[in-house]
Amino acid sequence: MPNREWPRSMATLREDAMTEKTDAPRPSRRRFLTGAAGLVAAGAAGAARADEKNLPPNIAPWSKTLGDGVAVRPYGQPSKFEKDVIRRDVQWLTASRESSVSFTPLHELDGIITPNGLCFERHHGGIAEVDPHDYRLMIHGLVDKPLIFTLEDLKRLPRVNRIYFLECAANSGMEWRGAQLNGCQYTHGMIHSVMYTGVPLKLLLEQAGVKPNGKWLLVEGGDASGLDRSLPLDKALDDCLVAYRMNGEMLRPEQGYPVRLVVPGWQGNIWIKWLRRIEVGDEPWYTREETSKYTDLMPNGKARKFTFVMDAKSVITSPSPQAPIRNKGFLVISGLAWSGRGKVARVDVSLDGGRNWRTAKIDGPVLDKSLVRFYAEIEWNGEPLLLQSRAMDETGYVQPTKDELRAIRGVNSIYHNNGIQTWSVKANGEVENVEVG
Ligand code: MTE
Repeated sequence: MPNREWPRSMATLREDAMTEKTDAPRPSRRRFLTGAAGLVAAGAAGAARADEKNLPPNIAPWSKTLGDGVAVRPYGQPSKFEKDVIRRDVQWLTASRESSVSFTPLHELDGIITPNGLCFERHHGGIAEVDPHDYRLMIHGLVDKPLIFTLEDLKRLPRVNRIYFLECAANSGMEWRGAQLNGCQYTHGMIHSVMYTGVPLKLLLEQAGVKPNGKWLLVEGGDASGLDRSLPLDKALDDCLVAYRMNGEMLRPEQGYPVRLVVPGWQGNIWIKWLRRIEVGDEPWYTREETSKYTDLMPNGKARKFTFVMDAKSVITSPSPQAPIRNKGFLVISGLAWSGRGKVARVDVSLDGGRNWRTAKIDGPVLDKSLVRFYAEIEWNGEPLLLQSRAMDETGYVQPTKDELRAIRGVNSIYHNNGIQTWSVKANGEVENVEVG
C-alpha cells in the first residue's frame, strides 16, 4: 500500500468507520481503514472501559478547568496512566537485592532509545552513591605519567556523543534449556540503548602515555563489588568512552554515576560502572568475572576464553506475551535488532515458525553497534502464528536458531544466547513463549 494513500487524521478514520458497510468486499485500502478504525475503538475501550461522559460530543473535565502550573514537577515524570511501564525483576533470579537484575520493559517501548529511568540494572554490590566532588579516576601501571582525573577534569576535555546498545552476556540466559520466561521484558530485557556523552578513552591513555609493552588494561569499579575486567588495549584505543552523560543528563546512579566505561558491542559486564581505576599491564588479569563468570561453558566442560562481542540478535517486542494482540485486522509487528560487530544489515520476520521469511522494514537510524527498530505490517484475522525475527549484520553473520546454537554450545552455558525467539500467537490474541522443533 503506497504511503500517499494513508489516512491523514484520526478524524478521517472515524468518518470512514461510520459510513462504511463492514461486511461488503473491499479493496485493500478500505480494509486498512476498517482495521485501523477497529484499533481506535479498542484503544478507547482499552484495558479499562472509557467513561461515556468524557467522550465526544461531551466536554471532558480536563478541558473545563486549568491544569497544574509549571514546575509542579521540577523533574518531569511520565503520566500517571503509564504507571505500569516499569523495570521489573524476577524473584527467583534475585540472590539478594544488592546482587541482582531488573529488566527493561521492551514491550512498552518503541524507537531505539531507552528512557533513562527504564534502563535495566545489573549490580553485583548494590548502587554506589558516589559524591561527584570526591570522584577520582586513576590511570597507572605501564604508563609514562600516572594520572588522576577529577570529574571536572574529564568534563573539560573534548567529548563525543554516541548511541550504543549495552547487552548483558546473560540476556536470554534462562532460555538455554527451553522456553521459560513469559515476556520479552524477561527473555530479552537485559539490554538498553542510550546516547552517551564522554571522553574517548584513547585521549586519556595518550595523556598518560602507554609504554610499548602495555597491551591490556585492568578496568575497575568503585562500588562494593569492585568489579574488574581485563580490556585489550586495541579495543580501548578503538571506540571505548569514559562517559558521564546518558541521553543528555548525567548518568543515573544505577548506571554508574558519575562515570562509566562504554565498550561498544561488547558484553555488558565489561562496561565498568563507577569507574575508579585503569591499570595498564602486559597481559590479562584473569579476574573472577572473566573466568568463573561471563565465559561460555562448552559441552565438554571446558570454557571459552573471553567472549567479548555480542553477536547479532533480534526480538519481536510487540506482539509478545506482555503485549497481546487486541484486535483483528491491520497489525504492526514491531521489534529490535542489534549486532556487536557493526551495523544491522537486514531483519526478517516469519509468521510460521521459520518456514517462510519476509524482509522487515527498518525505521529510524541504523548506527554502528546500536539498536535498530523494525516493523512488519500484516492483516491478522485470528489465525495462530509462530512469530520469529532474525537479524543479519554487515559482516554477513545471520542470527542462528536455538538448535543451531545448542549443536555447538550444548546447554551448560548461561551466557551469549542469541538464538531466534519464537512467540506463539493464539486465536484470542494471547501470546506465549515457545520453541519450535
Ligand atoms: N560495574 C560495576 N562497577 N559493578 C557492577 O555490578 N555490573 C556489570 C556492568 N558493570 C557492574 C558493572 C554488568 S554484569 C552489566 S550487564 C552492566 O554493568 C549493566 O549495566 P546497567 O546496570 O547500566 O544496565
